[in-house]
Amino acid sequence: MSAGGRVHVELGDRGYDILVGAGAINQIDSQLRSMHESGARRAFIVIDTGVPTRFVVQLSKLATDAGLQVATASITPTEQIKSIETYQKLLVQIAATGHSRVDPVIALGGGIVGDLAGFAAASYRRGVPVIQCPTTLLSMVDASVGGKTGFNLQIPNDDGPATLLKNLVGAFWQPKLVIADIDVLESLEDRQRRSGLAECIKHGFISVGVGHGELLDWMIQHLDAIAAFDPPTIQELVQRNVALKASVVALDEREDTSKAGGRMLLNFGHTFGHAIETIAHLSPDPSDPSKAPLHHGEAIALGMLAACRAAENESGLDSSIGDELCSLLNRVGLPTQVAGLPSNEELIQRMSHDKKATGDSIRVIYPIARGRCAVVNDASAESIGVGFDAIRSD
Ligand SMILES: NC(=O)c1ccc[n+]([C@@H]2O[C@H](COP(=O)([O-])OP(=O)(O)OC[C@H]3O[C@@H](n4cnc5c(N)ncnc54)[C@H](O)[C@@H]3O)[C@@H](O)[C@H]2O)c1
Repeated sequence: MSAGGRVHVELGDRGYDILVGAGAINQIDSQLRSMHESGARRAFIVIDTGVPTRFVVQLSKLATDAGLQVATASITPTEQIKSIETYQKLLVQIAATGHSRVDPVIALGGGIVGDLAGFAAASYRRGVPVIQCPTTLLSMVDASVGGKTGFNLQIPNDDGPATLLKNLVGAFWQPKLVIADIDVLESLEDRQRRSGLAECIKHGFISVGVGHGELLDWMIQHLDAIAAFDPPTIQELVQRNVALKASVVALDEREDTSKAGGRMLLNFGHTFGHAIETIAHLSPDPSDPSKAPLHHGEAIALGMLAACRAAENESGLDSSIGDELCSLLNRVGLPTQVAGLPSNEELIQRMSHDKKATGDSIRVIYPIARGRCAVVNDASAESIGVGFDAIRSD
């Protein structure tokens, strides 16, 4: 492994390491051997079909060499597949192997596989160990760290197609280990790479407020190398981002809504973003509808920009914050405009379904200064509409 890094998530007896580096997957070996010594006999690997076969073979061999009998299930991820049906199927497959309470589930994939495998591990026999091996940039810098697991729910509508509500069911279940092997990103499509950069930019926009004030400027200084996906720069990007996420999670493990900041700040862009992410016809390229639907990071990019413009209207936020965000998103190839958005009324309705809403009011995260965001518990519909109008291209 090249000089990589280790970040520890300080959560007492639920604390764990995040290993980052080229070839880091090999380091799963000592964790699996120690699990074997403690009685584990099997490993159940949930595989994202997008991951190149050589990583699947490598991970299976490492588990076998550690003395574990390996069983696998494969998932081709989509937000529709991130469902109760897939979760149930996974539980049945795990149970059929005779998986015991001490046997680990290993997630090898992007955020969808990580969330589903994590929730299966959280609930099977009331909780078995899970190891997260994220294979997209987004899942490395965000989804695999912090223990949020779960799936989406389809809510039937009397007068139209069902509404897909993101991550409505789930649990906090911290992994025993996270391994971000930078080599696995080689095969990631350009659009997926950029999608992951959205969560990095999100971290930059909360960084000062959570004690990582250098992150935004570091990203700006290295933006050309980041946009070109230069491996050593990406490795440092992942390390810096997991360090931020680890420290936020350590202070607020379960997103305590009575805390003014903490984990809720990580939802910057998400209440707006979730409202548009599951609208199937939206494309990140207003001139090319065939690119629909939006990827998660694309929706978050648009959601962050909408939140900045809404905050300008709501509380007089300096427009330079939104302008800087817009310029960063443009430079890394993320969308800042979207065609075909439904009415603001419908979007606000969708937002109030989002689990980040509280009672009748809509809770959002708005920037308050460069690198700082804050929770707003009763955001006005008018300002939210101004936000959506700012990303509307028609
Ligand atoms: N749990 C959390 O805290 C958290 C945080 C952020 C996002 N999420 C969730 O994560 C999901 C998004 O995750 P994502 O962006 O990783 O998307 P994803 O899981 O849909 O994966 C994106 C695509 O990349 C492919 N892929 C994965 N690894 C690859 C590789 N190494 N090479 C080539 N292709 C590869 C996948 O097959 C898929 O087609 C959303 O459902 C979101 O809600 C969860």
